[in-house]
Amino acid sequence: MIEIAIDGTAASGKGTLARRLSVKYDFPHLDTGSMYRMVALELINDKKNDYTNLEIESCKIAKKLSFKQLENNKLRTEVVAALASKIASFPGLRETLNLKQIEFANVNKEKYGGCILDGRDIGTKILPNANFKFFINASVEIRAKRRLLEKNISFLHGNDEECMLQSLIIDITKRDLSDSRRKTSPLVPAEDAFIIDTSSISADEVMSIATKIIERSNKIVG
Ligand code: CDP
Repeated sequence: MIEIAIDGTAASGKGTLARRLSVKYDFPHLDTGSMYRMVALELINDKKNDYTNLEIESCKIAKKLSFKQLENNKLRTEVVAALASKIASFPGLRETLNLKQIEFANVNKEKYGGCILDGRDIGTKILPNANFKFFINASVEIRAKRRLLEKNISFLHGNDEECMLQSLIIDITKRDLSDSRRKTSPLVPAEDAFIIDTSSISADEVMSIATKIIERSNKIVG
């Protein structure tokens, strides 16, 4: 049974790689970031995001969270991302979501022969014995440009676009810092992870590097 762990910085291309590998090998994929985002979105919807008891409220939401809820367009906003990054430092919330992520891996390995999880602590904490570990990164400027393209805003003039880009660079830099400096499960590459810098390569090239690594091991046939 195959476990593929993909970690990396915000907008580095880890989700794209995970989705493509999931299609190629027919292994279910879990975007663990969307679980933190879902908890953040519910806190915002319930107007509990200013609560002093944010950790307790987050845990309550996380316990009830189902995988079906994760297909929600509202998860992708920067406001949700910023709160997700903040609450991701709560050890209690991480414990609750970790259990669900491990369960997802176990159920799908059994059912489909493999699973793919992407996030920040997959290779270090959730799947420490994964068959393949990838750590995806890119320069902050490139990542901000990708986020801007994802937003698909066609009406921006030169100056507005530059302003939005600068604000994304600031947001992503803040998120990088809080992800890598938190005490519980900070964002660090696992010692045995393959590190791929996607700053100057396309999504196709990243996929080709990853599949070569996987296929030369002969652990997955087909
Ligand atoms: O898509 P992007 O990389 O911007 O973010 P994401 O993967 O959706 O994750 C949102 C936030 O959840 C991140 O800033 C992390 O702080 C947190 N996260 C985490 O702490 N651990 C994970 N396994 C996944 C996400």
